[in-house]
Order: sequence, then C-alpha cells, then structure tokens
Amino acid sequence: MSYSVGLSSILVVDDDPIAAEALRYTLTTCGYDVTVAGDGIEALDYVRTGNYRIVISDVEMPKMNGIDFCREVRKRDACGYTYLILLTGRCDTDSVVVGLNAGADDYIAKPFHPSELQMRIRAGERLLALESRDLMIFALAKLADRRDHETGGHLERIREYSRLLCLELAKKPEYCEEIDEVFIQLIYDTSPLHDIGKVGIPDRILLKPGRLTEEEFKIMTEHTQIGGETLQAVAEAYPRAAFLQMAYQITVSHHERWDGSGYPNGLSGREIPLPGRIVAMADVYDALTSQRVYKSAYPHDVVVKMIQKGSGSHFEPGIVQAFLALQDEFRAVKEHYDQRRGNKSGQFLTQVPPIVTSGANSPVMDRT
Ligand code: C2E
Ligand code: SIN
Ligand code: SIN
Ligand code: FE
Ligand code: FE
Repeated sequence: MSYSVGLSSILVVDDDPIAAEALRYTLTTCGYDVTVAGDGIEALDYVRTGNYRIVISDVEMPKMNGIDFCREVRKRDACGYTYLILLTGRCDTDSVVVGLNAGADDYIAKPFHPSELQMRIRAGERLLALESRDLMIFALAKLADRRDHETGGHLERIREYSRLLCLELAKKPEYCEEIDEVFIQLIYDTSPLHDIGKVGIPDRILLKPGRLTEEEFKIMTEHTQIGGETLQAVAEAYPRAAFLQMAYQITVSHHERWDGSGYPNGLSGREIPLPGRIVAMADVYDALTSQRVYKSAYPHDVVVKMIQKGSGSHFEPGIVQAFLALQDEFRAVKEHYDQRRGNKSGQFLTQVPPIVTSGANSPVMDRT
C-alpha cells in the first residue's frame, strides 16, 4: 500500500483538450497521477468517487462553468475536503473573487509556471494533511468514548448538533461576531472531545447500571477537570493553536449551567465560554434522547419540553431558542443515526417516567 494514496491523484477540468493535455504533462512530470474531465458535470462524477482530493479547474467552460462547479463540490463536501484550484485567464480578476467566494481554495493565472503550480499543489497537500489530523483526533475521541457508548453515534451527533446550533445562532446579532466559519469548523472538530476526561473515571462508576450516589456523582463530575487539565497543559504549550484552546474550553465547561449551578467552577451566564454553552445543549439533547446504562431514552417531544423548561436555568435562553427553531433537524439527525445502526440503543420507554428537574448543584436525578 502507498501512504500517499488520495493526495497524489489530481483531477484536471478543462474543455480545451490541448490545455488539458499540457497540464496533464506538467503534472505527470511532477509525479502526480492525472485524470482529465472535459466539463464540470463529468468532473462532479469523478469528485463523487472520493478518489480526487485536489482538483484544478478552468473557469470558462460549457455546460457547467468552473464557478458553478466549485459551488457544487462544496455542497457535498461532507465526506472529505476537496482542494480546488481555479485556472484563470490573465485579466480575470473579477472571476477570481467570484471563484474564491464560490469555494475555490486558490487560483493560478494562465500561463502558469510549472514550479509555481507545484508549490500551490503542495499548499493544498499541507491543508489536506491537517484534515488527516482531525480524523486522528476523532479516532482518539472514539476510542475514549467506547467504554460507555458501545453503540456509537454519540460523537457524530454531538458535532452535528453543535454545528446546527452555530449556524442558527450566527443569524443573530448577539452571536454573529463570535461565530464565524472558523469557529464552526473548530467546534465541529473539537466537540467530540468533550468527555475525553471520562478515561479517568473508574468502571464501577461510569458503567454503573443504576443511579449514582452523591459521592459517585462527585467523582463523575471530575471528568471535566481531568479532560480540561490535560488539554489546558497542551494548549498552554502551543498558545497559537486555536484548536486546542477550544477543545479545552469545551471539555472543562460543558457541564456549567447558565444560572451558575453547574460544575466544575459554578460559572454563570457569559462567564461560560460560548463553545461550552453550545455543546452543553447538544450533549444534553443527545443524552436525553439516547439510552444509557442508567436510563432509557426519552422521546424527542418530551426532550423538547425538558429543554424548554431548562431555559434560563440550565441553558442560555438564546441557545434554547435556536434549538427550538432547529428541533426538526435535531430529530432528523437522531433518526438518521438510529437507522444506520438498526435502532439498537434507541428503544424508547413505553411509559415515560415523570420528569425530575434537578435542583441547584444536585445531580440530574433524585438520588435518594
Ligand atoms: P451523559 O450520560 O452523557 O449525560 C450528559 C448530561 O445530560 C447530564 O449531565 C445531564 O445534564 C443530562 N442528562 C442525562 N440524563 C438525564 C436525565 O435522565 N434527566 C435529566 N434531567 N438530564 C439528564 P450530568 O448529570 O452532569 O452527568 C454527567 C455524566 O455523568 C453523564 O453523561 C453520565 O456519564 C454520568 N451520569 C450521570 N448520572 C448518572 C447515573 O445516575 N448513573 C450513571 N451510571 N452515570 C451517570
Ligand atoms: C451507554 O449509552 O451505553 C453508556 C451510558 C452512559 O453514558 O453513562
Ligand atoms: C436539564 O437541565 O438537564 C434538562 C432540562 C431539565 O431537566 O429541566
Ligand atoms: Fe460530560
Ligand atoms: Fe457526552
């Protein structure tokens, strides 16, 4: 097997066969494996195979031009990032701006110099390598999560819910400054780490089939500090890594509550970092709609009411509003993952137990 599979295959999109062949020749000389598509529609079929992560496209093309092609690729980026380079004519600065807006990563003006082209492709490869880093982090988060969630799906849903909440919140003036594209990508990538500190919680507590005693719950709450302290140490060593900073904030603050009754620091309101406030909502929606060793799943509609009741106490009211606007999407995400694994852990109680609202500083359920 080759370790560079996926990075070395380049898709060239150009309706002019002579230009396409010239590009193929240059790239092949540089050691890349090249496929040529004659228009955007054909190119999309290639992109969908998942075999091309770097694409160099002409702008002016019949059927689908390079700009629309970029937009289409970005619409279905979910299963891996595609690095898009546009090839533009000399006096084409307007289409450069439009192209970057449509989702292109870079552009090269024709006629191009082969070594410039190669440098730009290297930049793309570096970016794609960062994606491998994100996948590795997700794999580590999965490893830590396996102990208490054998059925999986929890981390995939958490990051999806967090992203949805961000997209909704970003529409509002109070949040739009803090929640930009970078923020959304970071929360998507780091929210799966929120419970990483559970690695430090013994089985007899983490996997206890029944309710925890007060002392056991106290030990359980330490997962926020165990994860937080570990990530904080790394974040301080690499202060410019925004990724670590956000991972730390989420890990330490996802059990704080808006009214100050949460843990570990009893922060309230906007003292709680925004990523922590958002992931708190995602985490609780997921915990309530899922079966746990200690509880059954509540149906979506019941959970919506529970969350509504928690507005202003557990949760920030603005985030509850965003959740309410998104509730059908939350339900759809949940159903999607339930279907994927044959609903093994998604069984609902036939009879819904009375909702116990937790008091200040007390565990979620009555532990008497
Ligand atoms: P988790 O299971 O992922 O739950 C995350 C959060 O969802 C909980 O944080 C709580 O805010 C909310 N939540 C979960 N189930 C319920 C519920 O039935 N009712 C209500 N009102 N809220 C619920 P919390 O309470 O700080 O717990 C943190 C973690 O501690 C939990 O993560 C779980 O791993 C563990 N845990 C909490 N209570 C118990 C328990 O009674 N038995 C066991 N074995 N573990 C527990
Ligand atoms: C599970 O869902 O199987 C794990 C229970 C928990 O998170 O405490
Ligand atoms: C929660 O605070 O855990 C959910 C909302 C509620 O129980 O009132
Ligand atoms: Fe947690
Ligand atoms: Fe969780």
